[in-house]
Amino acid sequence: MKILSIETSCDETSVAIVEDGRKILTNRIYSQIDIHQKYGGVVPEIASRNHVTKLPYIIDEALEESKLTLADMDAIGVTNGPGLVGALLIGLSTAKAIAYSLEKPLIGVHHIEGHIAANFLQYPELEPPFLTLVVSGGHSHLVLVEDYQTFTVLGRTIDDAAGEAFDKISRVLGLGYPGGPAIDKTAKNGNADAISFPRVMLDKTKYDFSFSGLKSAVLNYLNGKKMKNEPIEVDDVAASFQMAVIEVLVTKTIACAKSINMKTICMAGGVSCNSLLRKMMSEAAEKEGLSLYYPDPILCTDNAAMIGSMAYYNFINGGESDLSLNGIPGLKIGTRQ
Ligand code: KG4
Ligand code: ZN
Repeated sequence: MKILSIETSCDETSVAIVEDGRKILTNRIYSQIDIHQKYGGVVPEIASRNHVTKLPYIIDEALEESKLTLADMDAIGVTNGPGLVGALLIGLSTAKAIAYSLEKPLIGVHHIEGHIAANFLQYPELEPPFLTLVVSGGHSHLVLVEDYQTFTVLGRTIDDAAGEAFDKISRVLGLGYPGGPAIDKTAKNGNADAISFPRVMLDKTKYDFSFSGLKSAVLNYLNGKKMKNEPIEVDDVAASFQMAVIEVLVTKTIACAKSINMKTICMAGGVSCNSLLRKMMSEAAEKEGLSLYYPDPILCTDNAAMIGSMAYYNFINGGESDLSLNGIPGLKIGTRQ
């Protein structure tokens, strides 16, 4: 079954063709990062306008690269939430138009479930159940994936998402947008023990996250330095901040897996590209005898192939979506509308 999938929930315009949920035939990604960089973050209206102008070309590119035509498609998959509503609606109306004109099924996909499914594209042997740490610009979730349709959130951020914290701290350090890759790179030259930033563990038996206290601690540290006219070692601040985030993510994920006796862990979302997270989670998983999976960086950040994978599992387990499918900015994981 070949699914043409579309992802436009934020600042990537992406179109993929995925076979049977596991095989990528093409995965075209047009990133708008350059356009939003000068504003220090994603401007929703600008994102929507760029999706409108770029999406038709990206669809053509995907078909050209795969040497397939729209008539070869068995269904159309599309992200219908969560995300920026204007941006979601561009992908959704395009997907509906194609599905309606071809008389093929339309399949709505939850963006975070798509991030999780990125692991299915890379690891043919991977099957639920497993625990996933989903860390992106908008989400930090610990999700138990019981089967292809049953997602239980065991922990979530109560304030900033991990990626959001990276983006905000990067901005105040003058490292630009997106902050994650910039901090990851800068931290390599710094000392992670230089500054002792708080590790917010909340109640240690719970698996929720909180990053706003850490953000305030970094801002207070920087303000204190400025007031005393002392130089700021940007590399050390980046390394110490990054270590504080990653230590919490790793500790909570491993503790959560152990508490439910889960032997398999996956990571998903843009922040799972982070080199320290990959290293520390791998070491911790090995120490505890757990299997760990995470996709290549290109499948961690937003892309349509992950949406095509999840669309396949939604279709074979739950059928197609109605043409009244709407874009839902706050769509809850495990729900369709
Ligand atoms: O999953 P994603 O592409 O989009 C959302 O669904 O939000 O994630 C984007 C986020 C941004 O906050 C970006 O700074 C972060 O992922 N990110 C990273 C790294 N690469 C991207 N964070 C930490 N380290 C990285 N290497
Ligand atoms: Zn995403």
